[in-house]
Amino acid sequence: MGNRTITLTDNSTGKSIELPLLEGTAGAPVLDVRSLNKELGCFTFDPGFKATASCESTITYLDGAKGELMYRGYPIEQLAEHCSFLEVCYLLLHGDLPNKDEKDTFVDEIRYHTMINEGLRTFLSGFRYDAHPMAMMTGVIGSLSAFYHDSLNLNDPEQRMTTAHRLIAKIPTIAAATYKHSIGEPVLYPRNDLSYTGNFLYMMWGRPTEPYEPDPVAEQALDVLFLLHADHEQNASTSTVRLAGSSQTNPFGAIAAGTASLWGPAHGGANEAVLRMLDEIGSVDNIDKFVARAKDKNDPFRLMGFGHRVYKNFDPRAKIIKKMAHRVLQDYGDDPRMELALRLEEIALKDDYFVSRKLYPNVDFYSGIIYQALGFPYEMFTVLFAIGRTVGWISHWMEMVSDPKMVIGRPRQLYTGAARRDVPPIESR
Ligand code: SDX
Repeated sequence: MGNRTITLTDNSTGKSIELPLLEGTAGAPVLDVRSLNKELGCFTFDPGFKATASCESTITYLDGAKGELMYRGYPIEQLAEHCSFLEVCYLLLHGDLPNKDEKDTFVDEIRYHTMINEGLRTFLSGFRYDAHPMAMMTGVIGSLSAFYHDSLNLNDPEQRMTTAHRLIAKIPTIAAATYKHSIGEPVLYPRNDLSYTGNFLYMMWGRPTEPYEPDPVAEQALDVLFLLHADHEQNASTSTVRLAGSSQTNPFGAIAAGTASLWGPAHGGANEAVLRMLDEIGSVDNIDKFVARAKDKNDPFRLMGFGHRVYKNFDPRAKIIKKMAHRVLQDYGDDPRMELALRLEEIALKDDYFVSRKLYPNVDFYSGIIYQALGFPYEMFTVLFAIGRTVGWISHWMEMVSDPKMVIGRPRQLYTGAARRDVPPIESR
């Protein structure tokens, strides 16, 4: 971790302390402030954790300035080119890519867990048909701990891995079930003769009345999209999973908390918001008006799919998805919103407001165009994000709970409320 230090001096007392500067494999060093309160009687203050490293992790690294993303050291571009989503799930869970036998065993293990308890199907039928699928996902995922009691011992590595396999395997089944519930069609049982993503497409678009085979173009595109969304270090939903899981609650509850966080339009809900924004813009002639609104501090409108807390360059995932969108539209027919998105990107990236703030398209800017082309309704877009991200959430959860040094997360605050005062009798209030 190196032996660099930073000296802090309290100029009101003259007291100085040396704080260690810890170096990782890559990225900025971190200032270890754990002794700050004991030594200087103060806390750090960092709303939104813009300058705070909440943990040590070996899973994912992103370089915001260069626009680089690596899972366990492998660049995302190479993983997207050469690996399936399930190979990347194995990588994130185990730390390295599987060999042929390990891959086959893992695929079989996931296939074994694709069904959901019949009681969950009844549970799902209690939702209104027009409930947002992310509302149903959050509720059903949270309820999994009521159905799967036999793998909740956090201290048992085997039970932790069983829970990971169950979540990766069942999330697509639950996701497709929320869609079928919303359109009043029967929920389909998984087909384990199909690939992970092919089975999801079957459960989404298949019907008991006729045969269905997934379209290879859709299967390949969606598998890459799941892979691109698999993990992204300490983003809001993953940090939510870590904080919730740090109380030693069951993993299904922690992942449900992450699912709820992902739903927000500032996070994973942005992919749905991008398509609604493109529909609202309607035509290239209106772009300038909306770009002006995005720049207007008095207007809450923001360019959805643009900007990122860490990337101050192109999101590498957006580059891959943008190329994929062109390929999918060649098969599925052009979409005027693609042209609109391309022009919006071109205009924004010439505008100083965006250039000076280093606002580039992020993972959500083009993904919805593909989802829409593949037939998914807008409300399912964030559900698709959650299918990909579940393996990231559970990998971070496992990394945290298997660390003997794990402590419950409990941030402090800067209190600016009322000073101590006595309760007056009600007659004088
Ligand atoms: C994801 O963290 C992750 O890794 C997330 C994610 C993952 O894989 O998990 O990558 C997935 O969530 C991608 C982001 C999806 N969200 C959106 O596309 C929503 C639109 N984007 C913004 O809401 C915003 O860019 C955030 C939330 C993504 C980032 O916000 P920050 O880091 O808090 O940045 P900020 O709000 O401090 O913005 C800095 C400046 C501000 O202007 P000034 O106060 O300096 O004048 O940039 C402006 C902001 O107003 N700004 C935008 C903008 N994003 C930032 N202005 C217009 N449109 C935007 N989209």
